[in-house]
Amino acid sequence: MAELISSFPAISDLRAKARRRLPLFAREFMEAGTGLDHAVERNAADLAGVQLSPRAMRGPVTRDLSTSFLGQDFSVPFGIAPVGGTGMIWPGGEKVLAGIAAESNLPYTLASVATQTPETIGPIARGRGWFQFYPMADKEIQKDVLSRAHGAGFETLVVTVDVPMMSRRERQMRAGFQMPPRLTPRMLLQALLHPSWTRAVLQVGRPELATLTPYFADVAAAERMAEIGRQLHPEPAWSEVECIRAIWPGKIILKGIMQCDDARMAVAEGADAIWVSNHGGRQLDAAPSSISVLPGIRGAVGKDFPIIFDSGVRSGLDIARGLASGADFVMLGRPFLYALAAGGHDTAQLCVRILRDELENVMAQVGAERPADLPLALVKPKGTEI
Ligand code: FNR
Repeated sequence: MAELISSFPAISDLRAKARRRLPLFAREFMEAGTGLDHAVERNAADLAGVQLSPRAMRGPVTRDLSTSFLGQDFSVPFGIAPVGGTGMIWPGGEKVLAGIAAESNLPYTLASVATQTPETIGPIARGRGWFQFYPMADKEIQKDVLSRAHGAGFETLVVTVDVPMMSRRERQMRAGFQMPPRLTPRMLLQALLHPSWTRAVLQVGRPELATLTPYFADVAAAERMAEIGRQLHPEPAWSEVECIRAIWPGKIILKGIMQCDDARMAVAEGADAIWVSNHGGRQLDAAPSSISVLPGIRGAVGKDFPIIFDSGVRSGLDIARGLASGADFVMLGRPFLYALAAGGHDTAQLCVRILRDELENVMAQVGAERPADLPLALVKPKGTEI
């Protein structure tokens, strides 16, 4: 680990390695936002603008990063956001990340469009797995998927509510990306130019949407993804929360809340937590950064309602910025993909180490003993209150 950390001291080093290792279509799948990537850029720029005030002369301080969230005790206040198609970045990537979540005692969110099933990932995550779900048009399939996930040991459900329709991802289109990947001469050339990625992916064969594909076995292969896409994005209404609540016995988190009114509705409809996110800038290029709306949403739901935050977090400092701005927990998407693509298990484990070290260091600089102390360090823009 000491040798690895000197090669990759920060997430940006893992990203640089990942970018060298992946062929263009997989790299663009991982990196792309939507449109001109303005929302992706806003996430980074607005996070960078959040200032924390250093404290002096605090004497020796015992720092404790452990955090309880929705009744679960985790070692750190951050975890792994859901990413569909992770197997395209690293074969069996979901298994690697779930294992790391269990070792490090942090949450891993398995996407319903991942390349591994809840039955495979549940036992590996050992209670740290959350299951991400898009409301489905076919309620029988919805019920079956949810009962499979719960039966496999997932107690917390993350319902993604910010994809009424799949967004246009122009960078992915230009790079020839499609799901499942189709071997075209251009893709073959891209893969041959990146032999280390090709070797890794060939170990497990073609990634596909393992959880959902079996329900559509009778649909012609060429039509299957389009059909799954239609099933997954039926523009749900608020009544969906009650419908899911009737069949899901555990906690429910609504992911993709960006407005105070929506946050209040989520509370009123009985969500256990909300996840403030602009989907990593992948849905609406005109969306504000999620860090910029976080303080207002905290104000709207009150100081005790559980809030998760993501989009643009690239360091322990960014985690501290999210916690200082009103979040109870912070999740990361692309950083764990960079880490996987850079070298699989060891670099993914390193990713946790980097984020933890950086967060602890920032807490020392601002005199915070616990993550919950971080709001005291926030430099508030003049005239604002959380
Ligand atoms: C995602 N994200 C996502 N979210 C979700 O609810 N279900 C999904 O299947 C996916 N799939 C997905 C694929 C890829 C390649 C990316 C990069 C992201 C969004 C993800 O959970 C998270 O909200 C963002 O990634 C957070 O932004 P950062 O950390 O990537 O900047």
